[in-house]
Amino acid sequence: MRTISLVTQKGGAGKSTLASSLAVAALEAGERVCLIDMDAQATLTLWGKTRGEADVPVIAASAGKLNAVLAALEAKGVTLAIIDTPGADGPAASAAMAAAQLNVIPARPTAFDLWASANTRKALKDMRGDYVFVLNQCPPAQQSARVDEGIAALEAMGGLLSPLVLARVDYQEAARRGWGVTEYNPGGAAADEMRALWASLKKRLKAKAPRAANKAA
Ligand SMILES: Nc1ncnc2c1ncn2[C@@H]1O[C@H](COP(=O)(O)OP(=O)(O)O)[C@@H](O)[C@H]1O
Ligand SMILES: [Mg+2]
Repeated sequence: MRTISLVTQKGGAGKSTLASSLAVAALEAGERVCLIDMDAQATLTLWGKTRGEADVPVIAASAGKLNAVLAALEAKGVTLAIIDTPGADGPAASAAMAAAQLNVIPARPTAFDLWASANTRKALKDMRGDYVFVLNQCPPAQQSARVDEGIAALEAMGGLLSPLVLARVDYQEAARRGWGVTEYNPGGAAADEMRALWASLKKRLKAKAPRAANKAA
């Protein structure tokens, strides 16, 4: 089982949005996916209730229970666990970072998000966690200096996952139905983006040992 955590101290960066749409894209690509909701706001738990299907289970977990939850999922044959975290430092974010083979740090192309990313990256470096950035909610005119600056900052900090994720209403329309963007509008640009993002993540994860092997090492 591979475990990914979406982390950043900044609220609104897109952790829950990307977690839900990536989960669905991965499901469609053949993974057995489970979402783990560590945020007291319970965004993904509500998303799962709205969805009303068992194909992408959402489990709420506290920091103290996380490892037991992950072990149980692995025993059940889940191949991908995606952990959504609160937008603040604390035990939940720390536990999620420690449990993940790869941490995904979403950031909007704004100074405040980029500064928050640097803090999150420092926390991950201190615990020797692996991480990659995703630039989210980019304006449609991609050549803007603000986006270029974001790309340069995140690349300099240690890697930006492709593609860039643009601000698109599909993400909001899918979320309120309990869907991923690939279900809401399979032929749309947001769906293409999420399928490509999952493909990049999968490639990035391939080099990593599965969780059980990590533990034994
Ligand atoms: N790529 C995107 N395009 C449009 N809206 C987005 C996108 N990503 C996130 N949003 C919106 O931004 C807001 C914050 O996103 P959310 O996923 O809740 O962030 P977080 O979980 O990091 O706090 C939500 O209203 C969500 O619908
Ligand atoms: Mg959230």
